[in-house]
Amino acid sequence: MYTYHFTTHSQQETEDIGCRFASCVRPGMTVAMYGDLGAGKTAFTRGVERGLGYQGSVTSPTFSIVNEYRGGRVDVAHFDMYRISSEEELYGTGFYDYLDGRMAVFMEWSENIPFAVDDTAVKITIEHGPGGERSITVESPEEIVF
Ligand SMILES: Nc1ncnc2c1ncn2[C@@H]1O[C@H](COP(=O)(O)OP(=O)(O)OP(=O)(O)O)[C@@H](O)[C@H]1O
Ligand SMILES: [Mg+2]
Repeated sequence: MYTYHFTTHSQQETEDIGCRFASCVRPGMTVAMYGDLGAGKTAFTRGVERGLGYQGSVTSPTFSIVNEYRGGRVDVAHFDMYRISSEEELYGTGFYDYLDGRMAVFMEWSENIPFAVDDTAVKITIEHGPGGERSITVESPEEIVF
């Protein structure tokens, strides 16, 4: 496992790390995101989309469960697993259809779906620091450069 660590002091800085991470996003990649409410998972994903050249807006798909961002360098399915707690519920969202390799899949609240995060996933954990900063840890089974 390769581990990369960053500390950011604003939403903009977190988006900028996401924007850099976009350079290693590929179709078929799954990215499991972890972190509390307001940690910055959506901010990171917004930066990824900027880096991919996606033109639209990026918000937490809390009610829709999944947003699709098409037209950037790689198409992305952005899941919010906040309301998902069982494999049956996950299945009902169509999640497994997104794993056919055509899109990259980003998942907020991956804490809720440990059964669906496999060894090939890149894991991104965002933690609140004592001074309001965010600690971002990226763990990848393969070496990545970004
Ligand atoms: N260093 C930072 N990085 C990211 N966001 C920050 C940072 N410092 C402060 N913020 C603020 O924290 C919030 C992060 O919101 P965001 O929607 O990205 O979180 P989230 O992890 O997706 O939350 P949720 O679980 O509710 O979906 C924003 O209001 C942002 O302005
Ligand atoms: Mg979010």
